[in-house]
Amino acid sequence: MSEIKACLFDLDGVIVDTAKYHFKAWKRLANELGIDFTEHENEQLKGVSRMESLQLILSWGGLKKTEAEMLELAALKNSWYVEMINEMKADEILPGAVQFLKELRDAGVKIALGSASKNSTTILQKINLLDQFDAIIDGTKVSKSKPNPEVFLKGAEALGEDPEYCVVFEDAVAGVEAAIRAGMRVVGIGEHRILYQADMVVSGLDQIHLASLKEALIKK
Ligand code: BG6
Ligand code: MG
Repeated sequence: MSEIKACLFDLDGVIVDTAKYHFKAWKRLANELGIDFTEHENEQLKGVSRMESLQLILSWGGLKKTEAEMLELAALKNSWYVEMINEMKADEILPGAVQFLKELRDAGVKIALGSASKNSTTILQKINLLDQFDAIIDGTKVSKSKPNPEVFLKGAEALGEDPEYCVVFEDAVAGVEAAIRAGMRVVGIGEHRILYQADMVVSGLDQIHLASLKEALIKK
């Protein structure tokens, strides 16, 4: 397998623990509509765009809304979500993220963000990590949601690297699939029973170093 020249990171649930805020805001909206969903169902919302997440929730409740109503509901969820992320501080960066980004930078590995979120720049500013990324591809720059590989292919292109030299870090099933479809190696962040399609799975970025990554991914 090829050497590692670039790493592409999902944001929510990989760099920062915003996945819990998305869950809270969607649950509040769903409950107001008389729908409920579990943490298990919530896995399907991870990595998926705002409007597609809403469509899934409405389908779970068997509800139909007009396009205008859906835009209003998505905006309401986002307003609650933004209220929460506006309060975020750098101490909400997930363990190991800052150290691992620095290790990659010091080793000359390029770094990109590959997120579905339209709030990614706000979040990275809040946690003081904006300047750690050589490229930022997010929900404002892509038209196709994960599992479509667009976000990662654009990230690789922005970094000037071929997909075979890239490694993706993802906590979402849809994101792992997007990375595979982009022709990249992928590290799942979370549980193996959920992210089993990834080349390797760790519980967080604090469990990984460039040396162990190379050993696991360049061996073949
Ligand atoms: C992804 C999250 O990173 O971004 C999803 O995993 C979320 O849960 C998506 O729906 C879109 O985020 P936003 O901030 O644009 O609503
Ligand atoms: Mg995520």
